[in-house]
Amino acid sequence: MERNWIWKETEDFRMEKKNLDWANLGFGYMVTDYRYVSNYKDGKWDDGALITDPNVTLNECAGVFQYSQSCFEGLKAYTTEDGHIVCFRPDMNAKRMMDSAERLEMPVFPEDRFVDAVEQVVKANAAWVPPFGSGASLYIRPYMIGTNSVIGVKPADEYQFRILVTPVGPYFKGGAKPITIKVSDFDRAAPHGTGHIKAGLNYAMSLHAIVTAHKEGFDENLYLDPATRTKVEETGGANFIFITKDGTLVTPKSDSILPSITRRSIMVVAEKYLGMKVEHREVYFDELKDFAECGLCGTAAVISPVGKIVDHGKEICFPSGMEEMGPQIKKIYDKLTAIQKAEIEGPEGWVKVI
Ligand code: PLP
Ligand code: COI
Repeated sequence: MERNWIWKETEDFRMEKKNLDWANLGFGYMVTDYRYVSNYKDGKWDDGALITDPNVTLNECAGVFQYSQSCFEGLKAYTTEDGHIVCFRPDMNAKRMMDSAERLEMPVFPEDRFVDAVEQVVKANAAWVPPFGSGASLYIRPYMIGTNSVIGVKPADEYQFRILVTPVGPYFKGGAKPITIKVSDFDRAAPHGTGHIKAGLNYAMSLHAIVTAHKEGFDENLYLDPATRTKVEETGGANFIFITKDGTLVTPKSDSILPSITRRSIMVVAEKYLGMKVEHREVYFDELKDFAECGLCGTAAVISPVGKIVDHGKEICFPSGMEEMGPQIKKIYDKLTAIQKAEIEGPEGWVKVI
């Protein structure tokens, strides 16, 4: 396949891959060779560097330990069929992390430096980027923490921005097999709170709910809007997409959910590449029984089909069933993942060659 449109400015740095069982990786952490670190002190970021030590040593009273001053991002890199490495929309993660930092009274890490740091750390760990066709990818986790001691409730003055990378397989064990989720009794976010940013504290809030869901045999939680508990929000780690019986893509709009980059990309792919009608709007829980297909979307989840949603014993079974992804979601999945892996050309700027 002709792919000159993408490689024009790249150096070719094929590297022998690590000897891992790529096809059977789960979504877990393993120590890779390099991580990126930059420190913020006296009102400015230092130059940043790649280091080999995976451990972080901090004062016992660091802001991150006392008042959870932390935010993070997640994106992926892939090896293409001809051995290049690409990653998907890192500028969007940079922007979202700037929003998270501002909301948490942390200094922003500039977009150009974020994208450059992603490039450096992926390049340095090229041997850990799973081979083309393995079904795995390199998960990139940028994060920022308050590092100096803080005991009165206030923001830290010193921060560390880091990026770790780790090869991963599917987020849900069954891969493309539909999952079952429960309507959570807990809320993940508060009205006017921090649900719209990627703060570590949101995930701490969701841990009891996910452990509870797993104990009860569910794969994930559906969170309702915290103000009225009548509208669909998201899960602990992904946004929802639904397909109506007449083939429209519907996806929830709310101020308290994370603006998923995957979801925003899917909206473009569905409308511009697949000619689908797209509705980004409030979605009432009562509407779910009328939808034909349901999926979760996110960097980790990619697009994971949902077969069943259970609300206190009352089941909503989507007509797409429990065996495979519904046909419309499959079409979106195929197109999106082909763009992400640079198999086909996507909108300008979506794929960054490392
Ligand atoms: N919602 C939550 C709560 C998440 O943690 C994530 C993961 O990043 C998403 C949605 C999906 O966002 P994205 O597509 O940008 O990965
Ligand atoms: C991601 O998809 O990048 C996330 O951060 C979600 C998390 C559940 C792993």
